[in-house]
Amino acid sequence: MGKRILVTGGAGFLGSHLCNRLLEEGNDVICLDNLFTGNKDNIRHLLGNDYFEFIRHDVTEPIFLEVDQVYNLACPASPVHYQYNPIKTTKTSVLGAINMLGLAKRVKARILQASTSEVYGDPQVHPQPEDYRGCVNTMGIRSCYDEGKRVAETLFYDYHRMHKLEIKVMRIFNTYGPNMNPNDGRVVSNFIVQALNNEDITIYGDGSQTRSFCYVDDLIEGMVRLMNSRADFIGPVNIGNPGEFTIKQLAELVVNLTGSSSKLIYKPLPSDDPLQRKPVIEIAKKELDWEPTVPLEEGLKKTIEYFKTIVK
Ligand SMILES: NC(=O)c1ccc[n+]([C@@H]2O[C@H](COP(=O)([O-])OP(=O)(O)OC[C@H]3O[C@@H](n4cnc5c(N)ncnc54)[C@H](O)[C@@H]3O)[C@@H](O)[C@H]2O)c1
Repeated sequence: MGKRILVTGGAGFLGSHLCNRLLEEGNDVICLDNLFTGNKDNIRHLLGNDYFEFIRHDVTEPIFLEVDQVYNLACPASPVHYQYNPIKTTKTSVLGAINMLGLAKRVKARILQASTSEVYGDPQVHPQPEDYRGCVNTMGIRSCYDEGKRVAETLFYDYHRMHKLEIKVMRIFNTYGPNMNPNDGRVVSNFIVQALNNEDITIYGDGSQTRSFCYVDDLIEGMVRLMNSRADFIGPVNIGNPGEFTIKQLAELVVNLTGSSSKLIYKPLPSDDPLQRKPVIEIAKKELDWEPTVPLEEGLKKTIEYFKTIVK
């Protein structure tokens, strides 16, 4: 029989894919979202489904629901959005975690936190294993997100220790795919939108900084496996694609795949932008039998097809 599952941030990029997947598996899904960066278009096709319910609600406020599992994804994820109101971003991570952990405790639900590679900050260790404790600035413009996510992790482990809550902490690395917000300033969506419009492609810095890019289907597979893993495996676990590309390589690939006439232009690197990021995924391989399967070129093609439907 299916489970009753709460997905906070369910109308966002990752959340909407997760709702699809959980419904396909025969679960009853409650999608909770304040629609700050999420979009009803991402879940419109689900609104008539009897097993799907949308609740417009802010996770900084408590809510009482009866569920078996909670996926806590609510939080703006891109710098333009999380820096728009940084105090609210910290509240969303911290109060959101407290409220969702409280809910999970009351109804004895298992709860998964969508944490992030940003907990490693600007890493001094490359690539990043889960036991690396990070190099994070407490005072910078990215701190609201990075530190908020770090405190959320702390709360998850304290609820586990104090109240024996069944928790799962997942550290998500750069993910891309259909349903990404075209205006959120993330590198993949930026490049695709600029290429489709034949505008200059903006590279911050000299383009030699590297990133790993995980296609959304791979990421959701890892997330669902983690949620349903044995109770004593609580993470943290990195989920991402270790294939490393420079930002310049990504830009060139997007230009090729879109057949665009765009030129690459270079601008100064924003403050605190990490120079390199790449996950070690040995724990995910061992504990979840998970590794990414979608090559960057194939994932980019699917993402470009999606953006063609929404970019004028
Ligand atoms: N996409 C990535 O590459 C990535 C990487 C690391 C971590 N993550 C994490 O995964 C989660 C989902 O990210 P995403 O890429 O889908 O981003 P997104 O912005 O598309 O989704 C976040 C969702 O949370 C909702 N939300 C924001 N604040 C809220 C609040 N106070 N109350 C209720 N809902 C709220 C938004 O409206 C949106 O629908 C986030 O927690 C993010 O930090 C994502």
